Amino acid sequence: MCEIAYQQCIHADCGATFDIGQPLFGCPKCGNLLDVGYHWDKVAVPKSLDAFNRRWTTPGRSVEARADFSGVWRFRELLPFAKVDEIATIGEGRTILQQADQIAKQIGMKSGRLFLQYEGFNPTGSFKDNGMTAAFTIARKLDRTRVACASTGNTSAAMSVYAAHSGDSGKPMQAIVFVGEGKIAFGKLAQALDYGALTLQIAGDFDACMKRAVECAEKLDVYLMNSLNPFRLEGQKTIMFRILEGLDWQVPDWIIVPGGNLGNSSAFGKAFEELKTLGLIPRIPRIAIINAAGANTLDHAWNQKKMRWNEGKFDSKGICEYFDELDASNNKAKTIASAIEIGRPVNLAKGLRTLDVMNGVVRTVTDEEILAFKAMIGRYGYGCEPASAASLAGLHQLRNEGMIGPDDKVACVLTGHSLKDPDATVNYHMKGSGQQVGSPPNQPVQIADDFEAIKTAIN
Ligand code: F0G
Repeated sequence: MCEIAYQQCIHADCGATFDIGQPLFGCPKCGNLLDVGYHWDKVAVPKSLDAFNRRWTTPGRSVEARADFSGVWRFRELLPFAKVDEIATIGEGRTILQQADQIAKQIGMKSGRLFLQYEGFNPTGSFKDNGMTAAFTIARKLDRTRVACASTGNTSAAMSVYAAHSGDSGKPMQAIVFVGEGKIAFGKLAQALDYGALTLQIAGDFDACMKRAVECAEKLDVYLMNSLNPFRLEGQKTIMFRILEGLDWQVPDWIIVPGGNLGNSSAFGKAFEELKTLGLIPRIPRIAIINAAGANTLDHAWNQKKMRWNEGKFDSKGICEYFDELDASNNKAKTIASAIEIGRPVNLAKGLRTLDVMNGVVRTVTDEEILAFKAMIGRYGYGCEPASAASLAGLHQLRNEGMIGPDDKVACVLTGHSLKDPDATVNYHMKGSGQQVGSPPNQPVQIADDFEAIKTAIN
């Protein structure tokens, strides 16, 4: 179907390849995860990354102009599985790297060294749009009519909006979302409902939803849009391309990202590995993946159980057994950062690969730290939802350890917009002071409707 791209099992003992025309969510031979691979010799990849700069200025309504407008598809030679007229885009990925000197100062970093990649500026307010445009491009290519995902909210919001737009191209798709009852912030639930998705609230958490979504993809004519679908991750690679772009194509020292289902982390490692192989970057930055304390399966797997990528010969049986152990002890994820309240990250093996490729570290931060650093991100003019702030809380921890120095160039990925979960924000600011780190609550002042009282409060 496509001469350039193929799907490939990531396990070194298997490595089976499949046509991209096959709708697959795991290797049919051994059950491990799949990658999208490319015959790079057949792709017109630019000789240097700055060749992408010119795409910012393409005028008009042509298919090329629409692709160039997208912060995903202006890098299309680096995810070459679709032709330009096959791309399903709503103008996602127009996010930029922000230099955050005020925050840098607060956590003991030098000016010009801390950057925030603010993915909340996407059409649905989270990084998920980067992946969904890629997944919808392939879904449309494969003539799929029903798409489904399990979600803590952002995936479902993104999937629903692309499904709602799919009718524009004459190939409408029905969105089916699985969300855990009471497990999803209202800002996100509102989006799925508004965009017309069939929203199935099941009595269970994200991990339970994930199992049902996979079951439906296997047994019904439904196309899975979670990150088990390897095309999703191709779109999410571009978050790293934009970080490089924002640094004039210089490689930073560290990327810091919250870890939930580990789709982002997986995509980031793949992005850098490919850029290095293509000779487009001289070195690969390090990564810190940050778990929330109530959902730190990766931390446990990496730091305690010492699970490793092992040159592709990772212990897939060990991963299954570990998840079975968690199930047997009724271990459920629990954190205020509902977006990353995930106990069985489906991309764990790819996460291990990223940690290997990017010489990574994994850390855990508490809910209190997440909220206090979320307040700091807001205080200095950015804003994000709780899960996103795990990145800054993690940076703070790594600064304290001395793992990251004041001179290191660091990019934290802010994965979702602050309006996704206003309850978390308001509750934090209402509660009064007491926390040790981050920014203190900014309590509203109850005041009489009286000028003298107001004057006293202002002065
Ligand atoms: N941050 C936000 C705002 C998210 O929505 C998610 C995941 C993550 C971080 C974690 O990213 O899974 O790639 O490690 N949200 C998914 C969802 C699970 O359903 O919206 P990850």
